[in-house]
Amino acid sequence: MSDQIRDLIAEAARRARAETNDEPEPGMTGEVQWPMQCAVGKGLEGAIATDTRIGYVNGAKGWLIYRGLNIFDLAEFSTFEETSYLLLYGQLPTKRQLQDFGRTLVRHRPVPPAVYEVLAQIPTASTHPMAALRTAISVLGNLDDSSEKLTVEGEREVSIKLIAQMATVAGAIARIRRGEAPLAPREDLSHAANYLYLMTGEEPSELNSRIMDISLILHADHGMNASTFTTMVVNSSLSDMYGSVTAGIASLKGPLHGGANEQVLYDLEEIGNPENVEKWFQHARETKRKVMGFGHRVYKAYDPRARILGPLAQLLSHRDPDIENLYKIAVKLDGLVCTQLGSEKKVFPNVDFYSGIVYRALGIETAMFTPIFAVSRVSGWTARALEYLGDNRIFRPRALYTGPPRVEYVPLEKR
Ligand code: COA
Repeated sequence: MSDQIRDLIAEAARRARAETNDEPEPGMTGEVQWPMQCAVGKGLEGAIATDTRIGYVNGAKGWLIYRGLNIFDLAEFSTFEETSYLLLYGQLPTKRQLQDFGRTLVRHRPVPPAVYEVLAQIPTASTHPMAALRTAISVLGNLDDSSEKLTVEGEREVSIKLIAQMATVAGAIARIRRGEAPLAPREDLSHAANYLYLMTGEEPSELNSRIMDISLILHADHGMNASTFTTMVVNSSLSDMYGSVTAGIASLKGPLHGGANEQVLYDLEEIGNPENVEKWFQHARETKRKVMGFGHRVYKAYDPRARILGPLAQLLSHRDPDIENLYKIAVKLDGLVCTQLGSEKKVFPNVDFYSGIVYRALGIETAMFTPIFAVSRVSGWTARALEYLGDNRIFRPRALYTGPPRVEYVPLEKR
């Protein structure tokens, strides 16, 4: 089975190479002389906030690298543990280093009971799981007496705890939402398998574990996206890593960012069946409704992560007629959007378009999709915050003031 997945990813990589006709060619790497000149658009479009050795997105070609390694190779051969090590330490681990890192993650999996007690107080019907996750991670910081160690090494230790415990907390939230007691993490399972177990209460199959592992690899880092930048901005004031990551979760929650994976599923369900796709899309265009799971600030080509998640969704779609139906709707919508908005506006599927179908096939509730993103992206958030901390300067951009220059103060009784 794992050979089948490898073949599938290798085929996606072959297609991507054929279409983009090249290996990744980082256009924005190399020495940066500060201050540097760049044209900045609304939403900081085009702004260069820092230099980094962690990862690069070539938006024109649709390529993504972590520490120089191509995302297709990582998806095919790596694991989330290895990828997290790569992001945090800058190179692939040796066998021994990987074993030690894996053991450290396992050791840090359990969270203090007080975290579950706080989660139990949060109303599940009206609270989004990402809001609960944000609260729980903040509480974890309150309970960790090493949270104020403001050295790079101290923050690195906290980061590894955060990578381990984000999965435990997200797993607990999935169960508490269903009125079930959280489970203790298993020591004998990989990060991905343990996370699935904590959510579903069942030991996952090898195939399901590998699919979750690949998804965690694909979401681990992605340039200066909103939540990564948020985490870095908070950390640059020399705040603590728990606070910085809490802010990252809040940023990731929104539907323009990580929250899109959940919205995609609601849209596909709203469409209902493949025959309705054209009419639904036409109406979306007329009402200027954004189609969730499409478009990207950096990618002006097909997102390489969607190239992998699409075939994985297809593979899993055969499990259930409802999922097969969702997949057929998605493929039709993908084709329509690419034809109509691809050449015109460079709008193509992004990572969130097919991930929801994959998660649905793994038996995960729709509201729990975005926490999966957080369980993965915490590696990229912390790796980049740590890198920046090594040569820190507080982030402090400016705004162009467009208000009146001078207004006379009118006392309250005269207004
Ligand atoms: N559906 C329809 N049109 C879209 C679109 C989408 N999902 N995404 C972008 N466009 C169009 C915009 O309407 C705009 O058209 P215009 O020039 O005629 O006004 C053009 O493409 C540029 O888009 P813009 O909104 O300026 O891009 P951005 O860089 O500010 O925003 C996103 C990027 C990701 C926020 C945006 O594409 C979006 O909202 N996508 C849907 C949410 C989503 O999937 N988010 C997950 C990102 S990983």
